[in-house]
Amino acid sequence: MAVHIEESGLETILTLQTDHTCYQMKVDENGYLLHLYYGPPVGGQDMSYRLRRYNRSFSPNPPGVGAAQDLSLDWLPQEYPGSGTGDFRQTALQAEVPGYTGCDLRFARMKQERGMFSLSGLPAVYAHEDEAETLRIWLEDEAGGLSVCLLYGVLPEYDIITRAVEVTNIGEKTAVLCKVMSLSLDLPPAPTDMVMFRGTHADERLPERVSLPYGLTQTESRRGFSSHQANPAVILCGPDTTETAGWCLGAAFVYSGSFLASAERSQFTDVRLVMGIHPEDFSWVLEPGGTFTAPEVMLSFSAQGFAPLSDRFQRAIRRHVCRGKWRDVTRPVLLNNWEGTYFQFTGRKLMEIAAQAASLGAELFVLDDGWFGKREDDTSSLGDWFPNERKLGMSLAELASRVNALGLKFGLWFEPEMVSPDSDLYRAHPDWALTVPDRDPATGRNQLVLDLSRREVRDHLYARITEVLDHASIAYVKWDANRHLTDVFSQAPGVRSQGEVRHRCILGLYELLERLIRRYPDILWEGCSGGGGRFDAGMLYYHPQIWTSDNTDAVARLGIQYGTSFFYPASAMGAHVSAVPNHQTGRVTPFETRAAVAMSGAFGYELDPAKLSPEEREMVRRQIRDYRTYSYLFQKGYYRRLTGIGDPYRYTAWMHVSKDGSEAIVTAVCPLSRAQSPFECLCLSGLDADASYTVKLLLSSDPEAKAFYDRLGPLTGAALMRAGLPLPVIHHDAGSVQVLLQSTKADF
Ligand code: DGJ
Repeated sequence: MAVHIEESGLETILTLQTDHTCYQMKVDENGYLLHLYYGPPVGGQDMSYRLRRYNRSFSPNPPGVGAAQDLSLDWLPQEYPGSGTGDFRQTALQAEVPGYTGCDLRFARMKQERGMFSLSGLPAVYAHEDEAETLRIWLEDEAGGLSVCLLYGVLPEYDIITRAVEVTNIGEKTAVLCKVMSLSLDLPPAPTDMVMFRGTHADERLPERVSLPYGLTQTESRRGFSSHQANPAVILCGPDTTETAGWCLGAAFVYSGSFLASAERSQFTDVRLVMGIHPEDFSWVLEPGGTFTAPEVMLSFSAQGFAPLSDRFQRAIRRHVCRGKWRDVTRPVLLNNWEGTYFQFTGRKLMEIAAQAASLGAELFVLDDGWFGKREDDTSSLGDWFPNERKLGMSLAELASRVNALGLKFGLWFEPEMVSPDSDLYRAHPDWALTVPDRDPATGRNQLVLDLSRREVRDHLYARITEVLDHASIAYVKWDANRHLTDVFSQAPGVRSQGEVRHRCILGLYELLERLIRRYPDILWEGCSGGGGRFDAGMLYYHPQIWTSDNTDAVARLGIQYGTSFFYPASAMGAHVSAVPNHQTGRVTPFETRAAVAMSGAFGYELDPAKLSPEEREMVRRQIRDYRTYSYLFQKGYYRRLTGIGDPYRYTAWMHVSKDGSEAIVTAVCPLSRAQSPFECLCLSGLDADASYTVKLLLSSDPEAKAFYDRLGPLTGAALMRAGLPLPVIHHDAGSVQVLLQSTKADF
C-alpha cells in the first residue's frame, strides 16, 4: 500500500510511501492539515514529534488556543496555507469573496483510491491501477464558501509523488480566485540552495544554483508559455549536494503556460516552496458550484544526490507522461531542411535533399517552414495552411509520395497557434487574434497569437490541419510557436474575466492537441517553440519529443542538454547535426563532435547534404548506423551526467547506461584545447562493479583516439567507476570521443 492512514482520536496521520521515500502529513486536533516529513523512509514512525508548541511573539494564535499562545500558523508547516488568518508567509490560495476576506481551510474529509488521478483537460502523470495510488483530501473554508481538494498521486516504483488542486465554490456568492498554487511544501529539512534552469532563446535551461537568502527566491515566466527564460522545474538541496551525494528534492510543473516557483526562507529559517500558475495577470471567476483545477506538480526526493533524482524524473516522464506509440518506439533519424535552405527552396531542391538523405540512411525527411500560403520569409501567411503548390512545383501529396518512394517517411512543420497580420485568416477574422480593441498590438517575428480560448478558432485550426494531414502521407509533425503573449485580450463575446484568458489559451491548446493526437496516433509529434521555449512536462504529454534549442552548435548544446537532462529524458531532446560555421554562434566544430552531441537525444541532421564532402557523407552513414544500433541505449538508457559544464578546458561528459549496467555509451567533449592538458579519467556510473567491460571507440574527432582505446584491454566495472575511463589528450577545440562499453559477463 502506498497510502497509509492512521486515525487516533481527533488526529490522523497520512503517509505516502514510495520505494525510497516517505511523505507524511497530519490532521491536527484543530483540523489543520500539517506537513510532517518528506525524505527517506522512517520505518513507519509518526513524525509528529517534530512539531513543537512554542509561544513566539508576533505570531498570531488561531482561535481556541487560549492563554498558552503556543500555536501559530505563522510557523506551523502546512500542506495548503490560505491567507489572512495568521500565516504571513507566501500563501497557496487567495480568493475574493464578497463580504469575506482571507481563507481559513480546515480538514473536511478524504478518500483513498487505486490508480493515479487524472485532471480534466490538463496533462497529468498516468499509470495503471496497480502501479499507483491516489489520496484526495478536502479542506474547507465554510464561511468563505470554498472547498479545496488536494490530490496526491503516488507512483512508488519511480519515487514520484504528484500534487494537484481542485477548488470548488460551495457557497452562494460568486468568488474570484486570484492565486491557486498547485504545490505548497514546507520544509525542514530546510534547503540552503535552489537550482533553477534559466536561459534565453537559443540558450535554454542552464542550471543556476543559488543560496536561499531570507525572503523570496523565485523563478517564473509571465510570457504565456513556460518559456526559454525559465523552466518550470526546480531543485532544492543542501549546501553539499552533488551528483552522487547529499539530499535534494525536485519539483516539475506539468504545465506549459506562465508559472511561478517561489521559495521563501522564513524568519525561523525554514523554507516554503510554492509552484503553480503565475498569479500575476491571473484571475478566475468561480460561480457557485463551479470548480477550478490547478495543474499537477511532480515531486521526487533523493538522499543520494542529483543523479538518482534525474533518473526518477527522466524515467517517470518518459514512461508516465509521454504517451502513445512513440513513447516506446525507436525514433527515426530525420533530416530537416530548415538550416539547409531556410525559406529558399523549390520542390526540386527538396527532392534533391530527400534523395541524398535517403542515400545516407536517414529515415524521415522533414519539410520545415515556408511550404504554405505565400510565405517566403517571416512576414506573412501564418494561418493560411494551404500548400503553396507553385513553390513546391507539385501538390503536397505528390511531394510526400515522392519522398516515400525514396524509402523515407515525410514530415511537416506547422505553427498553428499564430497568425500573420498579412494572411487571409487575419483579414477574415481579425478578432481571432489576441489584441486589445482600439490599440495596436505588439508583434513578435511579425506575428500575432491566436485566441485559442475560443472554440471556433480551435475548430478552424483542427479543420485546416486535418485537411492537410488527410491529403498527404505525413508521418511526423513539428509543432512550432514563435512568440510570447502580449495584448492578452479575448474578443470573444461573453468573456467573464480577461484574467482567465492566458490559462484558457493553454487549456485550448491542450484540447486541440488531444483531438489531433487521438485522430493520428501513428504520427510522431515534435514540439517546438523557437527551439526549447516550451520544453515542459505538460507539452511532453502530447509531444514525446521537443526541439531542444534553435542553437545547434555542439559546444553550446553541451550546456543546454546538460541542463535539460536534470528533469527530462534523452528521448525527448531533439538534437541535430548542422553545418559549420554554426549559424547561431559562428563556431566551427568537428563533424564527429557535432554527431556525438546530437546522438545524445532524438537524433537527426539539419543541413543541406549536397554540401557534405565525400568523407562527411561516409561519416553520416556510419553515424546513422551506429545510432540505430544503439538507439535503445541513447533513447531508453539511464542518462548520467559525469561532469559539470563549468570548465571549457576540461571534458564535459555523460553516459547512457542500460538498466542492468551491462552496456553503456560514454560521450566526452572538451570545448577548448590547450598545450598541456591534464590526463583526464572519467569515473563512470551505473556499471556492474564485478563485471569486465570491453572498450570500443565509436566516434572521435581525433584520428589517434582509436589506437588509444585499442590499447586498453577489458576493464572492470569497479575500475571504471572508481578510477575511471581514460580520455585522450586532443589537440584541437571541441575534441570528442564516444566510447562503447560492453560487459563480457555471459549471464547479463
Ligand atoms: C523556429 C524553430 O525552432 C526552427 O527550428 C524553425 O522551425 C523555425 N522556427 C521556422 O520558422
